[in-house]
Amino acid sequence: MGVEIKVEGLTKKFGSQMIWNDVTLTLPAGEISVMLGPSGTGKSVFLKTLVGLLKPDAGSIWINDRDLTRLREHDLYEVRKLFGVLFQDGALFGSMNLYDNVAFPLREHTKKNESEIKRIVTEKMELVGLAGAEGKLPGEISGGMRKRAGLARALVLDPEILLIDEPDSGLDPVRTSYINQLFIDLNAQIDATFLIVTHDINTARTVPDNIGLLYHKHLAMFGPREMLLSSEEPVVRQFLNAQTIGPIGMSEEKDADELAQEQGQELPPLPPIALQLQTSDGTRRRAERPAGEWCRENGVVPPPGSFMSKNAGVPGVSQHTAHTEHAEPERAVS
Ligand SMILES: Nc1ncnc2c1ncn2[C@@H]1O[C@H](COP(=O)(O)OP(=O)(O)OP(=O)(O)O)[C@@H](O)[C@H]1O
Ligand SMILES: [Mg+2]
Repeated sequence: MGVEIKVEGLTKKFGSQMIWNDVTLTLPAGEISVMLGPSGTGKSVFLKTLVGLLKPDAGSIWINDRDLTRLREHDLYEVRKLFGVLFQDGALFGSMNLYDNVAFPLREHTKKNESEIKRIVTEKMELVGLAGAEGKLPGEISGGMRKRAGLARALVLDPEILLIDEPDSGLDPVRTSYINQLFIDLNAQIDATFLIVTHDINTARTVPDNIGLLYHKHLAMFGPREMLLSSEEPVVRQFLNAQTIGPIGMSEEKDADELAQEQGQELPPLPPIALQLQTSDGTRRRAERPAGEWCRENGVVPPPGSFMSKNAGVPGVSQHTAHTEHAEPERAVS
């Protein structure tokens, strides 16, 4: 079913270094959320805090009426079984082949026999396109393959919550598209609550039900995809459209001089909101909402041309390509 995760006033410091402060959000049960943010804003730290590997300095993480931040080690161990995690670096055991890496959580947390384990490991390795690579050591394969092996391992316990840190870094564009489709299909199948950290704007714009943005030691915004993609809030707008004009500089915030130089420069109009990716077999995800519903319910006029194609408005993808790919565009909402 997937479980809701309610984060309240979460704050994390390392020594005197504040990472983020007073983060409050709810990851709705069974929905896909994406967390964005410039490098170093603490996205990976956020995932590690959610799974209880790092202790926050303040705040709560509520899952099934229990506050994870107050659990004793034994109870935390139990709650962790709800999670499947793909760490940013894959976190595979270097001395074990891929098969044993993927089988590890099953051997550690279940009493399944080796033939059951083999069935599950084979199924998950096929799912991520690694059939045949079972005997390889992590050091012998590409970065993208390590990522996919990490994903297979995150899936073997049928998690209620999937935390996925940059699944697409080091993946070629075609595999990124396959992985994105896999997330949508998986979400329909296992109905888990997903949180994906990514730097891929195309992924952020087309995969999730909700988007969050960590910036400058706080959560700048979190909400439904259409809310952020139609937002004029400068930081959100700049990030989701990969622009240089806006408050975010090369290293954190721009200073007053840099911002003054931008005064009067015209921002390009917001690009159309693309249709959300759908399951490959046409089944509906529980969390799926009709295109444009959030905008209509909230009286927001989406950018012109919204909800016409899966690729509309994605930097680098021309409208022409986007339209010819999908011969039957849905009704425009604007
Ligand atoms: N165990 C740790 N001890 C001390 N500082 C840490 C630790 N882990 C992370 N940090 C610091 O916390 C900050 C946030 O790191 P984090 O890895 O979460 O960033 P990120 O948003 O995931 O960046 P990227 O997009 O590059 O992956 C960084 O300044 C990092 O140096
Ligand atoms: Mg990171």
